[in-house]
Amino acid sequence: MKRFKILGTGTALPERVLTNRELEQMVETSDAWITERTGIKERRIADDKTSSAVLGAAALRAACAQAGMEPSELDAIVVATSSADTGFPSTACWIQYELDIRGMPAFDVAAGCTGFLYALEVAACMLVAGPCKRVAVIGAEVMSKIVDWTDRTTCVLFGDGSGAAIIEVCEEPLGLRSLNWGADGGLAPILYQPAGGTRMPATAQTLADGMHTVKMNGAAVFRHAVRAMTAAGVAAVKAAGLTADDIDLLIPHQANMRIMEACRVRLGIPSERMFSIVDRYGNMSAATIPVAIHEAREAGRMPPGTTVALAAFGTGLTWGGAVLQV
Ligand code: ACO
Repeated sequence: MKRFKILGTGTALPERVLTNRELEQMVETSDAWITERTGIKERRIADDKTSSAVLGAAALRAACAQAGMEPSELDAIVVATSSADTGFPSTACWIQYELDIRGMPAFDVAAGCTGFLYALEVAACMLVAGPCKRVAVIGAEVMSKIVDWTDRTTCVLFGDGSGAAIIEVCEEPLGLRSLNWGADGGLAPILYQPAGGTRMPATAQTLADGMHTVKMNGAAVFRHAVRAMTAAGVAAVKAAGLTADDIDLLIPHQANMRIMEACRVRLGIPSERMFSIVDRYGNMSAATIPVAIHEAREAGRMPPGTTVALAAFGTGLTWGGAVLQV
């Protein structure tokens, strides 16, 4: 067990709400199609000035306020994002820039929508190994700036937001009871942003071809997501020496209600024990799990003693499953 307690959580969600009805005016789609296929009703969209680091900094500030500390007192900042502010430096360093703090290590973890679980494992290892005592784990995404708003197969799915958690090493048996993570890079081309990096540098042509936006084979992602996320969740519960009956709350990555439901059913967890925010925020990639954790805490769904199962999949394809004891 990697021991830590959650000192505070916080979120930052853009004010602008984009509903399915509004999307009907933008692409050939319908509220009924989006709702039935994904469970999404609306999502938040960042304004021109708001980057992933701007949201991440606001979420971190809120989490630190709840923890009763200043961001400058953190021992490390680990950020999960697929919509980084820049190719370099990291979004974590841009968060330091936004908050005018310095000194502690700050870096990004790139594991797509599984990013928060990857970042949590990295942060937990840092706490266990020392000398870090308090680490911020942040999921921050502005997906709206990298989706193709003329592609109805992707633009209806994503939303913007950030969630942060401050974790502190502790003696009590709290923290990660189990975590498994993995990746299959052979599936990289089923969900990626082709241009803008060194694989396909930006040119006038790549821009004209819309190669800087999310490209996804939805059916392939769906198939692998159900398999990978479910297997990771099942393995995490088993590795913790638990059964479905012991899980008080399931927080899966919130990409699509059908994928979440498939995972829940395979885990054998009743629907009232799954926490969902996908209807209000869409797929915020690495930010969905920390935003859901914050909202579950605020709703009184994660009191001390709660055993939480987390499961995710993401571009890569990456996956992860964990059992979190709070
Ligand atoms: N509105 C209306 N019709 C649409 C839309 C839309 N927004 N998008 C696609 N369609 C059409 C398709 O063109 C197709 O039409 P056709 O039969 O005439 O060709 C029809 O709807 C069915 O399309 P499918 O792709 O078969 O629909 P499906 O039921 O598979 O749902 C979806 C599509 C929602 C994208 C699904 O495949 C899915 O959820 N995939 C996983 C996506 C996902 O979670 N991605 C994660 C992204 S990032 C991450 O979390 C790692």
